[in-house]
Parts: sequence; structure tokens; C-alpha cells
Amino acid sequence: MFSFIMWHKCATQAKLVIELLLVKIKYMITIIAGTNRKGSNTLKVAEQYAAIFKEKGLEVQLVSLERLKSLERNPDFEALESTLKQTNKFVFVVPEYNGSIPGILKMLIDQSDIKNVWWGKKALLTGVSTGRAGNLRGMEHLTGILNYVKVVVHPNKLPISVVDKLLNGAGIITDAPTINAINNQIDEFIQF
Ligand SMILES: Cc1cc2nc3c(=O)[nH]c(=O)nc-3n(C[C@H](O)[C@H](O)[C@H](O)COP(=O)(O)O)c2cc1C
Repeated sequence: MFSFIMWHKCATQAKLVIELLLVKIKYMITIIAGTNRKGSNTLKVAEQYAAIFKEKGLEVQLVSLERLKSLERNPDFEALESTLKQTNKFVFVVPEYNGSIPGILKMLIDQSDIKNVWWGKKALLTGVSTGRAGNLRGMEHLTGILNYVKVVVHPNKLPISVVDKLLNGAGIITDAPTINAINNQIDEFIQF
């Protein structure tokens, strides 16, 4: 009886470890902070998303488009593209620039190997603005573009408006309803 209980416990633990490994292998998640503007609020929000994923036990890659110094297909771009090819799920944190997404983000998509980077993948969208819309329009534009390159977009798109008021001195959002909305969005995306 005792040895059966021990065996059962070991088997359950082994199953848990295997399941966790499978989740990690199956889902490589990349968060894209969708601007090349230095000191952007978008990058701060994207860093907070990465920290929340980590708290939930999931490793994520955080990509800032700040490193895309040029708009050409150069070795830097190709190194980034190679990590995007290995990604199954993308989180786009995207600022509102003149009522839409930043040009650098569209350039990233336009220059990439569409079939191998985007086709059949999944995405979660978060908009960031100092204005009141939280980039609602930009997220709709991005949804259209991503659907065109055969990416399935999660319906829970989160507009984060007046971001300059929400971020504290350390560049972190502490507002409870916003944190709650981010957590719900991430939990849904992990299951997606
Ligand atoms: C080129 C540019 C255009 C912008 N256009 C808008 C806009 O249309 N609506 C808005 O609410 N904020 C606009 N903003 C302000 C951004 O919402 C604000 O900078 C916010 O912090 C997100 O951008 P960031 O990640 O670059 O900081 C604009 C900022 C820049 C740099």
C-alpha cells in the first residue's frame, strides 16, 4: 500500500514536470514593444507584461523595436526575424501615433518573411496612449494587418489610456483595475 502511494506520488510529479516542459516547448511567447522611440512608455508597459508572465511561470522574450536602427533587411533585422520565426504567440504592446500604429511596426511586418514569421500564429493586443482612446483605432488597424498575414487575434484587446498618469515614478502601473484587466487578458491568452 505504502509503496503504491509513493509510486503514485512520483508518477504524478513526473507528469507535472513533463506537462510544464511541453507547455514551454509548445508556446514560445514574444512581447513586441511596438515603437523605436527612445524612453517610450510602451516599453515600460511591455516590461510589466513580461514580469506578469514570469510571475505566472512562463518565460517570454521581450523585443523592443528601439534596436531596429534601420528599416533595411540587415543582419540585425535577420537575427530578430529568426527569433520571431520560433515564436508561436505574440503580444503586441502598441502606442497610438497619429491615430494608428507606429510606422516602424508596419515596416517590421512588411519586411519579414510573412509565411514563416506570421502564418498560423496567435496574437494579443494592448494599446497605449496619453490620450483617452488607448489606441483603440490602432489596435483595429493592426488586427486587419495581422489577419491579412494569417494571424489569429485574441478578442480581448486592452486600451491603456492616460498612460502617463498610470505609470508611477518607477515606470510601473499600480492602478488595481488596470492590473486586474491585464491579468485577465494574459490568463485568457495563455489558454488561447
Ligand atoms: C509621433 C507621435 C504621435 C502621437 N500621436 C498620438 C495620438 O494620436 N493620440 C494620442 O493619444 N497620443 C499620441 N501620442 C502620444 C503617445 O500616446 C504617448 O507618447 C504615449 O506615451 C505612448 O507613446 P510612447 O510609447 O512613445 O511613449 C503620440 C506620440 C508620438 C511620439
